[in-house]
Amino acid sequence: MHIGQGLAIIDRIRDLTSDVRELTLRLLEPSELVFSPGQSLSFEVPTARGSKPAIRYYSLASPPNQPRRLVLLLSASEQGIGPNYLFTKKAGEKIPFGGPNGNFCLHDDGPRNILFVATGTGIAPFRSMLFSLFERPITKTVTLFWGLRSEQDIYYQHELDALARRHPNFSFHIALSRAQKNWSGAKGRVTQLVENIPVVDDLAVYVCGNKRMVMEVTDIIRQKGNCPLYREKYYDELERKCLS
Ligand SMILES: Cc1cc2nc3c(=O)[nH]c(=O)nc-3n(C[C@H](O)[C@H](O)[C@H](O)COP(=O)(O)OP(=O)(O)OC[C@H]3O[C@@H](n4cnc5c(N)ncnc54)[C@H](O)[C@@H]3O)c2cc1C
Ligand SMILES: NC(=O)c1ccc[n+]([C@@H]2O[C@H](COP(=O)([O-])OP(=O)(O)OC[C@H]3O[C@@H](n4cnc5c(N)ncnc54)[C@H](OP(=O)(O)O)[C@@H]3O)[C@@H](O)[C@H]2O)c1
Repeated sequence: MHIGQGLAIIDRIRDLTSDVRELTLRLLEPSELVFSPGQSLSFEVPTARGSKPAIRYYSLASPPNQPRRLVLLLSASEQGIGPNYLFTKKAGEKIPFGGPNGNFCLHDDGPRNILFVATGTGIAPFRSMLFSLFERPITKTVTLFWGLRSEQDIYYQHELDALARRHPNFSFHIALSRAQKNWSGAKGRVTQLVENIPVVDDLAVYVCGNKRMVMEVTDIIRQKGNCPLYREKYYDELERKCLS
């Protein structure tokens, strides 16, 4: 699903870690964006001279109840044309975008508890979903497993802590794959946390981030039982290609 074209101004740039940049866009045209949590914006990224621009997608990390100021999270760990283009943008610059795009959205799975599994900037769509979910009272349990490398790579911890304090049915667990000695949380890859889940029959699982992680978590969950599992459509295409 690809809806329309718009123009925004870069309102704020925050480096959350040495690798992760948060961009806040203020909308100019349209003045508000209607979107579902989990959807993304697209950008036309210049390629070699004379060639057509490429399209790159970035998930909206802010919730729909902030329709004028949109937050994106950029990872610099990949040095491709997408990050190269967006990392050069300065506050006050205007930027055209497309969207909202995509169907990686929250589903109504009745009383099923929700498990979000992310690595790195894969947290972006889940931040939008979490803020949306907790806008009104809900009784189901919502858990976030988030895989990062080390203590220096952690961001948004204060707001996740605040959300967990306000909503006892929300909890989050950060797994550090390269933790230093004093880390008291989970150590190892986030997939280990998923391996440790005893049953999945009462869950709806959402997965986003590192491509291999998404595939591995899909396999682990499918081996454990039958529950809805949501990820970007791209992975269904990847699986079809692998099987054919
Ligand atoms: C819907 C969506 C949302 C994204 N949101 C973010 C985000 O919030 N923050 C962030 O840092 N990165 C995000 N990405 C990844 C981002 O679009 C770029 O792939 C990344 O910044 C690397 O850029 P690159 O130029 O090196 O492209 P490459 O990684 O070289 O990508 C090459 C091609 O593969 C496609 N591709 C790569 N990964 C996926 C995927 N998961 N699904 C579909 N196509 C894919 C790209 O769109 C592109 O067409 C998202 C990707 C998708 C598809
Ligand atoms: N909607 C979307 O599709 C969307 C939205 C946002 C971001 N993204 C994508 O998400 C990715 C996030 O990348 P990032 O650079 O921020 O972080 P990253 O480099 O992928 O690393 C974060 C963590 O992922 C771990 N990891 C690597 N491979 C793994 C695997 N096979 N299984 C489990 N964990 C694994 C790393 O562990 P090690 O230390 O062991 O390597 C590290 O702890 C990017 O590729 C971005 O494009 C997609």
